[in-house]
Amino acid sequence: MLRLEGIDKNFGPVQALVDITLEVPIGKVTALAGDNGAGKSVLIKCVAGIHTPDDGQLFWENQPVRLNSPHEAAALGIETVYQDLALCDNLDIVQNLFLGRERLRHFLLDEESMEIAAGRH
Ligand SMILES: Nc1ncnc2c1ncn2[C@@H]1O[C@H](COP(=O)(O)OP(=O)(O)O)[C@@H](O)[C@H]1O
Ligand SMILES: [Mg+2]
Repeated sequence: MLRLEGIDKNFGPVQALVDITLEVPIGKVTALAGDNGAGKSVLIKCVAGIHTPDDGQLFWENQPVRLNSPHEAAALGIETVYQDLALCDNLDIVQNLFLGRERLRHFLLDEESMEIAAGRH
């Protein structure tokens, strides 16, 4: 489903990822484990379209892909649930669920549609 080959990511002098290879097969839960600072979060952010790798290639269903934003990753079906449950305290549950992909109707938020969809899941 997802394959990473030779992924590098540097932040200035910090080499966060060096030549990372990973395969995530369809239908299996895959865990990524490692010490604090090993690069797990940076790797997930590369897969989620937040960071662009400096080198290497991502493949989604065997096609080379370049993810320029979280929206592009989400369009493929890649979503991230963050460990710190990065929710907006000032928004309600439905608003948090639809953050960044709000449904509109006549240029206004379609709150009813979002509430119904949230209740269904
Ligand atoms: N935005 C950033 N700028 C600079 N350095 C970063 C940034 N994000 C992560 N790093 C560094 O990259 C390394 C890997 O971090 P991280 O992926 O958060 O580790 P893990 O999630 O495995 O604990 C660490 O040395 C961290 O300090
Ligand atoms: Mg982390």
